[in-house]
Amino acid sequence: MNDLKLSHLSATLIGSEIVNLGGEIREKIRMGENIYNFTVGDFDPSIFPIPKELENEIVDAYRKHFTNYPAAEGNLDLRDAISQFTKERQQLDYSPGEILVASGGRPLIYSVFRAICDKGDKVIYAVPSWNNNHYAHFVDAEHVVVEASIDNHFMPTAAEIAPHIKGATLLALCSPQNPTGTTFTKKDLQDICRLVVAENARRGAGEKKLYLMFDQMYWQLTYGSIVHYNPVSLEPARRVANSATVPPSPFQNRRTQSRYLPFHSVHPTGKFPTW
Ligand SMILES: Cc1ncc(COP(=O)(O)O)c(C=O)c1O
Repeated sequence: MNDLKLSHLSATLIGSEIVNLGGEIREKIRMGENIYNFTVGDFDPSIFPIPKELENEIVDAYRKHFTNYPAAEGNLDLRDAISQFTKERQQLDYSPGEILVASGGRPLIYSVFRAICDKGDKVIYAVPSWNNNHYAHFVDAEHVVVEASIDNHFMPTAAEIAPHIKGATLLALCSPQNPTGTTFTKKDLQDICRLVVAENARRGAGEKKLYLMFDQMYWQLTYGSIVHYNPVSLEPARRVANSATVPPSPFQNRRTQSRYLPFHSVHPTGKFPTW
């Protein structure tokens, strides 16, 4: 068994930190420890079932034999509905052709990294953040880690990102952030967008641009006075998106709605891979 040689990627993979932690906690609970498990945000369906209407629709779809492969990029009626939803709820104008549906956030994030990064490219991300270290590893990127501090609610700032921006290929941002639950203020996100726009304006023709991936998986989970902002709605980023230099990747949040809703990413080029 030991002489089975696998790829360099397989040999250097490390397990997901949060999944490992979740496993440890589950084991402690199994051994009888009294623990409130807040590790993985997957609620007990006997306490938090999916909405009845959705359950009925799913059962109904199976009864009607909707069991074949859907279109690789997502069925058109679904992408139409997502386009409308995104327009109504976020005032973001993406046509169905710019929307890619996947069964979870992970394949979409992986597509973004694969579509943009080549071996050795610089990927900037904050710690703590969710799984960027793994995605950067998948594409053999140079990891550029910005340690976010409690003073900034664990969200990276433009001032912290600026020293690393020269020559970087991808800036991976997330708001609300996992695991901190904290969000960008309008000004802080705007400052980062301006930094990206300025850097791209500086780059020469034929030079790879700095792309911004914006994971807003939890955008509907803000409460109280917190307002969620996304780069494309902020004026400078919209200009960038329109000139197709930044494919933003908001992810539809399933957790507020159900575990069975598809995830999607939106991007201006319509060129992201499907498989
Ligand atoms: C911020 C963030 N992005 C993406 C994902 C991936 O979502 P999925 O579990 O649907 O692959 C997660 C999952 O925990 C997450 O917390």
